[in-house]
Amino acid sequence: MLEIQDLHVAIDKKEILKGINLTIPDHEVHALFGPNGCGKSVLICAIMGYPEFKITGGKIYFNQKCINDLSIDERVKLGIGAMEQRPPTVRGVKLGTLAEMILQMKGETLQGMGDISKRYEMDRFFDREINDGFSGGEIKKSEMFLLMIANPSFVILDEPDSGVDPEQLKTIGNMINQSLHITELPGERCKTGDRSSGIIATHSAAILDYVQTDKAHVMIDGQIKCSGNSLLLMNQIRGYGYDYCVKCQQSIDNDEKK
Ligand SMILES: Nc1ncnc2c1ncn2[C@@H]1O[C@H](COP(=O)(O)OP(=O)(O)O)[C@@H](O)[C@H]1O
Ligand SMILES: [Mg+2]
Repeated sequence: MLEIQDLHVAIDKKEILKGINLTIPDHEVHALFGPNGCGKSVLICAIMGYPEFKITGGKIYFNQKCINDLSIDERVKLGIGAMEQRPPTVRGVKLGTLAEMILQMKGETLQGMGDISKRYEMDRFFDREINDGFSGGEIKKSEMFLLMIANPSFVILDEPDSGVDPEQLKTIGNMINQSLHITELPGERCKTGDRSSGIIATHSAAILDYVQTDKAHVMIDGQIKCSGNSLLLMNQIRGYGYDYCVKCQQSIDNDEKK
């Protein structure tokens, strides 16, 4: 579904991504680990097509189509959707208005979606301006809610667990599973073939207590240094920290350990 080949990205002529190779097949969700500042968010912004992140080499393919030159909205129309790490506050636009606009464009209603607004207690935010005064956890919930409504086929989540307390983390985990169609919606059986694919960038890996990923990658200084089994890598990082990954020159990527 998503294939990145030897991707180099620069900001203000400074190279941040130094040759990323990454393939995420249909129906697979991968975790992207890495210490602060290694380039996870830059990779996500490059996949979404933010113009300040200049692709200086390499290709990004989505469903076999090169998307390097597509605008953000063209990428969204292809089915790519992202939750940003630090989404902006949008004064003057209420959350409920934006939710309704997204649904109208898709010819859908909240009721048709099993009324997720009530289940995740989002309706009480509908009259508030987007992210204005929201707590860290509320911002993540609100972003997840909008993503669930938009229902992209490829879901990109940038640090869904940062700044979220343990209680809300579980709710966000449920929302992620539902957005990926891992958990069924009421009245709707979810077949394995319906599962979306995606990528979850997480520094702490806390969200992986609630969301299963098929594989994980460790990014260090703009390069993917290691790929393999998510739990194995998560335990390694939780036990020894990223310093271990920086020193370890061995990738554990092989089929036996997947
Ligand atoms: N808009 C920007 N302008 C200048 N430098 C940036 C910008 N965004 C990211 N960077 C730099 O790119 C590097 C990677 O950042 P980032 O992708 O946010 O790291 P991560 O998400 O892995 O914590 C950092 O050195 C950061 O300062
Ligand atoms: Mg980041």
